[in-house]
Amino acid sequence: MIPKNIHYQKINITRHEREKIKDQTGKVIWLTGLSGSGKSTLANVLEMQLNQLKKHTYILDGDNLRLGLNKDLGFSEEDRAENIRRVAEVAKLMIDAGLIVITAFISPFRSERKMARDLIGTNNFFEVFVDTPLEVCEQRDPKGLYKKARDGFLKNMTGIDSPYEAPIDAEIHYLPDSNYESIISLTLGK
Ligand code: ADX
Repeated sequence: MIPKNIHYQKINITRHEREKIKDQTGKVIWLTGLSGSGKSTLANVLEMQLNQLKKHTYILDGDNLRLGLNKDLGFSEEDRAENIRRVAEVAKLMIDAGLIVITAFISPFRSERKMARDLIGTNNFFEVFVDTPLEVCEQRDPKGLYKKARDGFLKNMTGIDSPYEAPIDAEIHYLPDSNYESIISLTLGK
C-alpha cells in the first residue's frame, strides 16, 4: 500500500556524513537459521569483535524484538513475514544512521529474506546461513521449545511443523565448526 498525502521529508545530514564521522559504512549482517542454531551467540561474538575494531554496531535479536516492537506478532506465516518486514525497515534506518547491524532471526522464508535484501540493497547485505542441523538444535534445546513442540504443546515450531527454507545464495555458509573471522573480513572488505 502506498500511503496517501505523505511526502518524504528531506533531511540535511546524509548517510554519507554519518558514516564518515564513524569511519565505516553502514551494512547488515543477516543471520538466518533454526532456533538453537547459535545465531544469538554468533551475533554477540561478531559484535564484540567489531567493537574491538572500534566499529559502531547494533544487534537486532528475534527474542528481544518480540518482547517489544514485535510483541503483537506470533508465529503464523503472516506474522513471521511482518516480523521480518519490520526488522528490515529498522535495519535500513540503522544503516542510514551509519551502523553495522547484526540481525539474528530465524527468518525461515526465502521470499522474506529476499525482501529484506532488496529493501536494504544487496551491496550492504551479508546473508549468513547458520547451518546447524535440526538434530543438534533439538539436542541443545536451550528453551525447551523443541520438546514442547514434539509433545504437542507448541504449534508452528520451525523445523517441526513449520518449514525452514535453507538459503541457496547466502554470502556465507556457517557450519558449527566454522570460523567467524571470515564473516568479519567479508563484511568490512565489501
Ligand atoms: S521468525 O521466524 O519470525 O524469524 P524469530 O527469530 O523472530 O522468528 O523468533 C524466534 C524465537 O522465538 C526462537 O528463538 C524461540 O525462542 C521463540 N519461539 C517461540 N515460539 C516459536 C515457534 N513456534 N517457532 C520458532 N521459534 C519460536
